[in-house]
Amino acid sequence: MNKDRKLIIAGNWKMNKTVAEALDLVHGLKLELSNVKEVDIVVCPPYTALCEVSKQILDSNLRLGAQNMSEHNFGAYTGEIAAGMLKEFSVRYVILGHSERRQYQKEDDALIAKKTLAAHAASLKPIVCVGETLAEREGGRTQKVLETQVRGSLHGVSKAQLEETIIAYEPVWAIGTGKTATPDQAQETHAFIRRLLLDMADEVTAKRMRIQYGGSVKPANSRELMSLPDVDGALVGGASLEERSFADIIKNAI
Ligand code: PGA
Repeated sequence: MNKDRKLIIAGNWKMNKTVAEALDLVHGLKLELSNVKEVDIVVCPPYTALCEVSKQILDSNLRLGAQNMSEHNFGAYTGEIAAGMLKEFSVRYVILGHSERRQYQKEDDALIAKKTLAAHAASLKPIVCVGETLAEREGGRTQKVLETQVRGSLHGVSKAQLEETIIAYEPVWAIGTGKTATPDQAQETHAFIRRLLLDMADEVTAKRMRIQYGGSVKPANSRELMSLPDVDGALVGGASLEERSFADIIKNAI
């Protein structure tokens, strides 16, 4: 598949996998995907497995991501993890503002913008998540909601930092539901986000930025979704927990 931007496919394991299970999965993925050069492959285990997974993928084409981090660098923030701590395990990417964190931890755009800036300051590449709910889509508010989220979550981020930022468009109604956006919906929404980025930065920056699709991505739909002109990868939840399905999502996208 010939794309303008290199595809980036990340597995968001959420709150799943013990260390032993995590090692099992990456061991299999390493073997399955060792020849893949066309896609940036990222695995995002829970914090507790980062250390061991990091050692296991050292000599592979898999890269490590975290699922969240603090906006602060250190201090009295019980239970939080700072960017610098992630760097100790060679973490390169960090998912920020996932809809589950927006919903359950009440994270808002202003907080996500602070985290995005903290990630860049530590040279971590943020994967900033945005997406509308079903009620918002049905009420015709998708573009307004996305514009608020994109502008708010990237507030204060420089053009150079934007280029190193990945956006994950994840319609909330498609996450973990088995419902996927249609190719038309995905392309239209990704193109809308890219136009927003152009307005926030410039054409060169907007053209270089990668926008992932997320929400019930599976082997059967990855080829069609990944072939859309403005879709530059995927953020995969459920189907990333199993070697066969995650490997097939990647292979089908090539
Ligand atoms: P899903 O989750 O692939 O299970 O729908 C996607 C995500 O939450 O990132």
